[in-house]
Amino acid sequence: MDISVIQGNIAEQATDCIVVNLFENTTEPSGAADALDQALNGAIRRLIASGDFTGKSGTTSLLYPDETLPAGRVLVIGLGDPAKFDQHAARKAAATAYKALAKLGGVKQAVTVVHGAGTAGLDAAAAGQALAEGTLLAEYQAPNYKRETPERNLAALTVVEFDGAKLAEIEAGVRRGEAIAHGVITARDLSNEPPNILVPVEFASRAAVMSANSGLHLTVLGEEQMAALNMNILLAVSRGSVNEAQLIVLEHAPEGTEEQAPLVLVGKGITFDTGGISIKPSDRMEEMKHDMSGAAAVVGAMDALARLGVPRRVIGVAACVENMPDGNAFRPGDILVGMTGKSTEILSTDAEGRLILADALAYVARFQPKAVVDLATLTGAIGIALGQQAAGLFGNNEELQNALLAAASSSSERLWPMPMWDEYMDAIKGDMAEVKNSGGRAGGVSTSAKFIEHFTEGYPWAHLDIANVAWTTSEKDAMTPKGATGFGVRLLVDLAEAY
Ligand code: BES
Ligand code: MN
Ligand code: ZN
Repeated sequence: MDISVIQGNIAEQATDCIVVNLFENTTEPSGAADALDQALNGAIRRLIASGDFTGKSGTTSLLYPDETLPAGRVLVIGLGDPAKFDQHAARKAAATAYKALAKLGGVKQAVTVVHGAGTAGLDAAAAGQALAEGTLLAEYQAPNYKRETPERNLAALTVVEFDGAKLAEIEAGVRRGEAIAHGVITARDLSNEPPNILVPVEFASRAAVMSANSGLHLTVLGEEQMAALNMNILLAVSRGSVNEAQLIVLEHAPEGTEEQAPLVLVGKGITFDTGGISIKPSDRMEEMKHDMSGAAAVVGAMDALARLGVPRRVIGVAACVENMPDGNAFRPGDILVGMTGKSTEILSTDAEGRLILADALAYVARFQPKAVVDLATLTGAIGIALGQQAAGLFGNNEELQNALLAAASSSSERLWPMPMWDEYMDAIKGDMAEVKNSGGRAGGVSTSAKFIEHFTEGYPWAHLDIANVAWTTSEKDAMTPKGATGFGVRLLVDLAEAY
């Protein structure tokens, strides 16, 4: 999708469709909607008076003008309750508009107002960003292995702004939204790929293509190199798989920031989680192809940070391993000693995410990080607690947690703080080893976070359990189709810029 920004009067545009918006229960259209209504001899006021369109968010109405307008159609979209309107509502409005336009066979090109920059009071850059993100994320289609690929009608969208003073800001916002959406799409693509294709080595080669395009520095460690570093806990998870594990390290360090203490992002990248010897039930096991969504979010965020040229040093680490049962697989009862020299007893080979993170988090200490944030589809239980509405936030540093909560709020990728009391440690204290990799059902989200914390040393750390938000089994909203959501990319970009 090509998005451009021009100054002009929207009513004068010769296009397949003009997009304007109305707040819920508006009786008198203002701004661009008013200008269009006049050009349409009152058709928008008649639409409102008919009661067919109330401006509820997610709704649209289509008008076919006569020669009074050079445009073929006018699409009116609802912005919802003005009191609840924010940047995320603007994102969703753009997504709703895209979905409606994409259904119209005759619309190849459309023009739109930037939602929210008028009476709604969003600043022009934020509104431009929301427009690009909502449009591009709604346009997203997962990788397709059918013989026929579905075609897209709408190829170009032009943002028309009457106020020339806002133009540069809208343009900058649109370009920012494009870079961030590209990162989200990178993450979604990785997460949606089937597990026979996206094995750890393939994940690494996709990261290599991405980093070559966006100018990141890439290092990949194979199993031999990880063995030399004593990353035996991570490697144990990989032992049942014929697919070699990969530790993928991406560095963004624009000139002048090379010596900065980096923000380090670490992602769980289990390319398929069978559970291993503690094998999972077969029902819905196919969803476990998404168990690398933390790693995908890290790679997507690094892509966006590089495209945006964020002026700080950030290192992203994707720990990619396949968890399979096999004659060579690790077992419940095994005791492992990893890179830190700390020992763990395996109670469940299905609690593998925390195991690969134990060594990945030990590895990143070498960067002397300013802070480390890990993202992992770690526990089914986080979804029981929070549903699809927020990821769980755990950590041991208030400043970092507050920065994450601020980023969650600005990106509308919600986080909710979960407890990390010392007493949760009791449940995972081991007999023969320091910690057990499962503390049982009670408090399972917090005991998993305590396990990870045990392996962190010398840096502020936070853990995001994204198991309930990384993918969705049915369309969530106009910009979040079934499958991978790309959760975390927008959040991490905002964190890297502000923290
Ligand atoms: N990848 C799963 C967590 C998961 C489950 C994510 C369902 C999304 C949906 C993780 O590796 C796992 O199996 N966790 C276990 C932990 C238990 C064995 C302590 C779980 O949540 O049941
Ligand atoms: Mn598991
Ligand atoms: Zn897992």
